Amino acid sequence: MKYYINTYGCQMNIHDSEKIAGILEELNYHACSKQEEADIVVFNTCCIRETAEQKIYGHIGMLKKLKQAHPNMLVVVCGCMSQQEGVADKIRTSYPFVDIILGTSNLNSLKQAVLDAQRRKCCVKVDFELYNEEDFVQSRTSYPNAWVNINYGCNNFCTYCIVPYVRGRERSRPLADILTEVKKLLADGYKEITLLGQNVNSYGHDLPNGEDFSALLKSIAELDGKFRLRFMTSHPKDLSQEVIDVIASYPKICDNIHLPVQSGSTEILRRMNRRYTREDYLSLICKIRTKLPNVGITTDIMVGFPGETEQDFEDTLDLVQKARYSSAFCFIYSRRKGTPAYSMENQIPYEVKRERITRLLACQNDVTKQISAEMIGKQFEVLVEGANNHYKNTMCGRTESGRLVNFKCDEQMTGQFVTVLIEQAKSATLWGKIVTEEE
Ligand code: SAH
Ligand code: SF4
Ligand code: F3S
Repeated sequence: MKYYINTYGCQMNIHDSEKIAGILEELNYHACSKQEEADIVVFNTCCIRETAEQKIYGHIGMLKKLKQAHPNMLVVVCGCMSQQEGVADKIRTSYPFVDIILGTSNLNSLKQAVLDAQRRKCCVKVDFELYNEEDFVQSRTSYPNAWVNINYGCNNFCTYCIVPYVRGRERSRPLADILTEVKKLLADGYKEITLLGQNVNSYGHDLPNGEDFSALLKSIAELDGKFRLRFMTSHPKDLSQEVIDVIASYPKICDNIHLPVQSGSTEILRRMNRRYTREDYLSLICKIRTKLPNVGITTDIMVGFPGETEQDFEDTLDLVQKARYSSAFCFIYSRRKGTPAYSMENQIPYEVKRERITRLLACQNDVTKQISAEMIGKQFEVLVEGANNHYKNTMCGRTESGRLVNFKCDEQMTGQFVTVLIEQAKSATLWGKIVTEEE
């Protein structure tokens, strides 16, 4: 029997899909590359923006015909979208061919739900439950990188964001459990560990024995062997000097920080409930660059939050130039039902949002180009991550600072560290050649 998983959304979901795959493999399903050939199709969904959600509904709808032709095929909808209030009912009514609907914290029920569905019993479970990471045998797909959850959920309630409602309250995994998982991954040959949480810097605040994010980073970075340690996402209000110092003291921790700013206007940040000002943010960037001169900083930015004036937006453009991000994920604000910003006055017309995002992208593009140009002629250590399928015999990997580099090399080199000389920069991607290989 075969399975096919459609994964939408962030790294959190990509990693959850590895747990889903693990459960399905325990049930003797094998991965396949075409949805049409699958005996079970999973939609691991995202609802961060309306566009994401609409696309997913469209894709689920398209399965109706397939299910008619293969009545024994099972369809599962899980992830953030199904956790939203009323959505399970909506799916049941509009897409009655869906067999299983699970919320974000119900993955531990998937095994039984599939066994029941094989006997034609539907399952809907969207109550928050606490599951134990250790209960899953994961089927990882991102070698040489391995994702590791350190905390779940979010307590920040930024006024635009649906995540706290669909991922529940923040809870940290015990440090010892994380360390056991990481040791096993390193023993299995993984070369890069990426710690995952909506707000990694608040890791441990709910644990009894004072374990915090810097202690966690240190205890992983002190493990033997050559590997890279990355983490995401950092909330600017919680990224401490201590964490910056730990990154600087341990070479295994990559000088790469994803630090979403959202807006460059203090007034918009206040209404977003981000709990820092423009000045706080810029001074944090300054502290980071002082300690980590080669750091790559990336960000998330939103345009068109309710009430955003032309001046607020220009403050964002100005901040982008000052912060010098190596890249930025730029989004048009999307109204999410159930969040405070949904009912704020002065929602911004779509044409204005469109115009602003175009200007923002152009502005960031200029910054990225400048940073890329400065890298030409220099050498960087790169971890070979996988094939670039658009070009023959071409592999890609990232510098410690997180920049993607393409270079000619053998596919068997995946998982090795090489030194690459940067020769060319095409917008966001760099091209180079290997000058030394790992011994
Ligand atoms: N926990 C992370 C972000 C998770 S969501 C953090 O706090 O930074 C990823 C990104 O999606 C956010 O940083 C934000 O830029 C964007 N986003 C969240 N809600 C959004 C909305 N309603 N409309 C548009 N973009 C949104
Ligand atoms: Fe959403 Fe804010 Fe939590 Fe990030 S910190 S997940 S943006 S509420
Ligand atoms: Fe991620 Fe989307 Fe959920 S961004 S946490 S999958 S709403």
